[in-house]
Amino acid sequence: MLKTPLCDLLGIEKPVFQGGMAWIADASLASAVSEAGGLGIIAAMNADANWLRDQIHELRAKTDKPFGVNVMLMSPFADEVAQVVIDERVPVVVTGAGNPAKYMKAWNEAGIKVV
Ligand SMILES: Cc1cc2nc3c(=O)[nH]c(=O)nc-3n(C[C@H](O)[C@H](O)[C@H](O)COP(=O)(O)O)c2cc1C
Repeated sequence: MLKTPLCDLLGIEKPVFQGGMAWIADASLASAVSEAGGLGIIAAMNADANWLRDQIHELRAKTDKPFGVNVMLMSPFADEVAQVVIDERVPVVVTGAGNPAKYMKAWNEAGIKVV
């Protein structure tokens, strides 16, 4: 099986990085991708902290492998979602739709890999 530096960086077996897709990339899809050896991503889209926390817990009930959360920076809940990924020790964050600068220090200090 092909192995690349991305595998070592993210702790995954196969160099497959699932896209964050609003309404599609939920815990069900992301857990399946991670469990299969890629990096599954939960898209936080415009959802609030409670929704994301539930999704993370649902994913963790299905796999103990690495996964990520896509933080959609235009979301009205971006601040609380940015804190949830820290509180839940999410290993990888993928940002979209904006500049993540205001969150980078906290995410770096939490050891989150940011894409
Ligand atoms: C249906 C759909 C929904 C998407 N929703 C998001 C999103 O919520 N956040 C985001 O950052 N990117 C979103 N994207 C972009 C994808 O994550 C990805 O960057 C894009 O599809 C390019 O991937 P590719 O290079 O593998 O083709 C979405 C893409 C699709 C097709």
